Amino acid sequence: MAARKIIVDTDPGQDDAVAILLALASPGEIEVLDITCVAGNVPLELTARNARIVCELANRPNIPIYAGCDRPLKRHLVTAEHVHGITGLDGPMLPEPVMPLKDGHAVDFIIDTLRKTEPKTVTLVPIGPLTNVGAALERAPEIASRIQEIVLMGGAYFEVGNVTPTAEFNIYVDPHAAKTVFSSGVPITVMPLDVTHKALVTDKRSNAFRSIGNKAGVAVAEMTGFFERFDREKYGANAAPLHDPCTIAYLLQPDIFSGRHVNVEIETSSELTMGMTVADWWRVTDRPANALFMGDMDANAFFTLLTDKIARL
Ligand code: BDR
Ligand code: CA
Repeated sequence: MAARKIIVDTDPGQDDAVAILLALASPGEIEVLDITCVAGNVPLELTARNARIVCELANRPNIPIYAGCDRPLKRHLVTAEHVHGITGLDGPMLPEPVMPLKDGHAVDFIIDTLRKTEPKTVTLVPIGPLTNVGAALERAPEIASRIQEIVLMGGAYFEVGNVTPTAEFNIYVDPHAAKTVFSSGVPITVMPLDVTHKALVTDKRSNAFRSIGNKAGVAVAEMTGFFERFDREKYGANAAPLHDPCTIAYLLQPDIFSGRHVNVEIETSSELTMGMTVADWWRVTDRPANALFMGDMDANAFFTLLTDKIARL
């Protein structure tokens, strides 16, 4: 089978970095058409820098990388240096990138790519705030019917929120873009906190990355080690969740995850619950399902896949 074409839309972020590494380590199954960067964990200038660092770490300096929106569609940018460090990629010492950014804006690139490729052959994988994807859908609504699928990390139902009591970071930062995406009619698969909080990097799993012995394995151990200190304090757990790679793992091995087709609406009016993903998990309304909302995962299978793939870099 031909490799699945994807665009990774990202705000690296250590867990974004691991997701990118996983995709680049899987050329037989996944073709990364390009990486589009968005402001989120840190400002755009840094996410665009970090994406290039990660591609160079994977020895893939030819992956096209575009910078996109530097702020949410309607709200002020909220960042997460308290989790990811001042650079967004704190932890390992990695060289400044030399590969250039592509000229042009990420949103234009997303629109142009979807217009010129055969319909339903490109999957979008947003693992940051949904600003670039939402802007593309608002500017060129006809691209919706050309997208194969959107597989995103964001939202929560049982876990409710991580940046406010009721909202997950990616959706909270740009709830208006998220609303556009969830009402677009595109097939959507969601990796919410309910799933990603089960993808825990324990000491054993971190040691497994380090013992691979290649540059990428050591960097993954150091990156996850960095943000772990924050999550350990916050959740009082011994291990930190590895959110974003769940999206790529789903493309590689969907049976690791299970969930429900449900309706998901995004709160954009109430400041108190801004960015909440109102998922009809128990199907108590007759609102039509618009997303496959994951609820569970096989964490051992996920880490086995991830470790095997990182070993190939
Ligand atoms: C999401 O927020 C970011 O901090 C992570 O990179 C992930 O995409 C988790 O809520
Ligand atoms: Ca992210």
